[in-house]
Amino acid sequence: MKKFFLLTAALLCTVAVFAQPKLKRNNLDDVVKAMTLEEKATLLVGGGWGSMTAGSMTASSETLVSGAAGTTRPIERLGIPMTVVADGPAGLRINPTRQGTDKTFYCTGFPVGTVLASTWNMPLVEKLTTAMGNEVKEYGVDVLLAPGQNLHRNPLCGRNFEYFSEDPFLSGKTSAAYVRGVQSNGVGVSIKHFAANSQEVNRQQNDSRINVRALRELYLKGFEIAVRESDPWTVMSSYNKLNGTFTQQSHELLTTVLRDEWGFNGIVMTDWGNKEGTVAAVNAGNDLMEPGMDNEIQRIIAGVKDGSISQEQLDLNVRRMLEYIVRTPRFAGYKFSNKPDLKAHAELVHAATAEGFVLLENNGALPLKDVKKVALYGTGSYDFIAGGTGSGNVNKAYVRNVAEGFKANGIEVDADIQRWYEQFIALKKTELRNNAEGGLGILLGDPVVPEMTISRSFIERKQAQTDVAVFTISRNAGEGDDRKAADGDWTLTGNERELIQTLADVYHANGKKLIVVLNIGGVIETASWKHIPDAILLAWTPGQEGGLAVADALTGVANPSGKLPMTFPISYLDIPSSYNFPFNYKGGNSIDLAALMGGGNRRRQMVKDIDYTNYAEGIWVGYRYFATAGKPVSYPFGYGLSYTTFAYSKPVVKVDKSGKVTATITVTNTGSVAGKEVVELYVSAPDGGLVKPVYELKGFAKTKELKPGASETVTVTIDPYTLASFNEATSAWETPAGNYTVHFGASSADIRATAPFKLAKPQSWPVHKVLLPAEPVKEISVK
Ligand code: BGC
Repeated sequence: MKKFFLLTAALLCTVAVFAQPKLKRNNLDDVVKAMTLEEKATLLVGGGWGSMTAGSMTASSETLVSGAAGTTRPIERLGIPMTVVADGPAGLRINPTRQGTDKTFYCTGFPVGTVLASTWNMPLVEKLTTAMGNEVKEYGVDVLLAPGQNLHRNPLCGRNFEYFSEDPFLSGKTSAAYVRGVQSNGVGVSIKHFAANSQEVNRQQNDSRINVRALRELYLKGFEIAVRESDPWTVMSSYNKLNGTFTQQSHELLTTVLRDEWGFNGIVMTDWGNKEGTVAAVNAGNDLMEPGMDNEIQRIIAGVKDGSISQEQLDLNVRRMLEYIVRTPRFAGYKFSNKPDLKAHAELVHAATAEGFVLLENNGALPLKDVKKVALYGTGSYDFIAGGTGSGNVNKAYVRNVAEGFKANGIEVDADIQRWYEQFIALKKTELRNNAEGGLGILLGDPVVPEMTISRSFIERKQAQTDVAVFTISRNAGEGDDRKAADGDWTLTGNERELIQTLADVYHANGKKLIVVLNIGGVIETASWKHIPDAILLAWTPGQEGGLAVADALTGVANPSGKLPMTFPISYLDIPSSYNFPFNYKGGNSIDLAALMGGGNRRRQMVKDIDYTNYAEGIWVGYRYFATAGKPVSYPFGYGLSYTTFAYSKPVVKVDKSGKVTATITVTNTGSVAGKEVVELYVSAPDGGLVKPVYELKGFAKTKELKPGASETVTVTIDPYTLASFNEATSAWETPAGNYTVHFGASSADIRATAPFKLAKPQSWPVHKVLLPAEPVKEISVK
């Protein structure tokens, strides 16, 4: 009897232990089996805004990361730790200070996404994001909510600076390099915002209505490339609807396309908002609700109980969550240091930044020669904009401005001008902060200080004491609001125009030069004034070392080698999407529809654009439109000058039996200083079949630094799938047989060599007929 009792007790113990397995890398199914419905629902819902809520139920204060965007919820009984997720993308966004300690937790302000894409240097992007990922790991974060890779459909999207390009191929390649870099540290990313999240106005509700060809070729392509080439741990579904369904709740998007077609095997998390429809999100394959609210747990439990979520679906999502968790440093018990090597990362960023600068104009004024003293104008020269506002704003310890950069390069900055600007900036900032209105959106970060009014007599006096005038023009934008096609944003203000003209007149009259530096997050109007200065350096918003890198580039310590990842049009209304983009809409996130309804035609049009946006331009985005329509631009996609010149020779294109194309070309530095060149490969398809752009970017390469006279032969391969266009009628990617041409370009409008190739066999890749708009969107025609 006693024996029997002991045996039963032992058995019960075993069952109890079995029913309560602790999570290990190899027992995920056991853990799923052991979880209660409540625990499963809990695992699919984040711990609330920030990292201090759910985490604090169990975690000790050292494991909490102040300022992180969110967490997953721990389940101690099963050894499932909380994990921490934080923004991105220009570095890690956490709070720099914490209560109860004097220690600081600053992160490096890296160049924003647009700057990374402007480098066209994928190994460099990977190197930078490897350092970024190290900060993620050393500050105890498991997933960086980045990269942002929505397409630059329209230059006024407030978050374009976080994103890469108007071209999906360049976006996808940059994103893949970014992901590889961050994830090489053993932490994850969340590529966002999936998908077609192309505007900030009404970003939570807007329905992006897009025909499937444009959707697949443009808005999904970058994500597809990144998923196929870099295995991101997570994807963030966006706030908006896509063809009538919230992306978070779209099974077609999150399961059929993302997982079944592209092979994604990580988790999908929502963007930060609690939407009704949690059940639909779970069923769509959206594994994690972020930031996570208790009512979402209740909705999941109710959904399983009433059968609207199947046990199988629930377990699938839960298992994927466990697969994610066992990958994290938190799960491995990694002892993070809170001490990444910020100095080394700053040096890395400083050295890399000028690769993302685009030299737009130069009549020989740059690099500066024989300059001892600079008249440095522009609020941005002293209050340099390192990156945009909103969740993409990194809390960095400092931002180097252009004045510091000149001093570091041994050049004096006129002290009177500097003092005047510094006082003006301090006063204006206080005023701006005190008067910040709702229209500024989620303003995490400082607004730009507008330009001062400066008299001609002052400029004349200063001319006599200085060797050159440099004028920095700054713009900023960010989450929660789109930019405006208005003076002070898209166009220059009267003050800025006046200053450029007066500086040019006064300095030119005395045989001296005027240089303009553009410290901007996105495209602005340049056609009406670009001929006035002697040189224009587009520095973007390139991170905390920006001012040093600008001075390096202006003085020739660095040779800028970036090229534009988007087109600079002549006029805003030249852009096809401008007719279906809610430009000049005031109000950002919070929208007063009723107030809008009373307005005139343009106002009614805006109501349409904020409830839904017809992507009526179809595939005619950026250079695809401008190059095909032959419409003049201010600066074409892919454009950028150097302090040296390059010659292209010996173009060779070969194609193997499988249809793989190998293109080579030799680039020679024909100028007098060292430099790097980006070679862009545009391919035109055989005539007939689908209407196509005149050519599309299908490959690129950047040379190493070439000394004067030195050459490099670059090789680029293009597989037949990359050449495919999407045929809506057959629901297939199709690469027709026939005669193709490779155009080797220094930009999309500067083709230096061409070479033909022939594909003997057509190829096609059928995909699911999904994500269709309720009604086909009526598109403009270009050809
Ligand atoms: C943004 C995301 C961000 C998240 C967490 C959202 O409002 O759209 O890009 O990752 O907040 O901060």
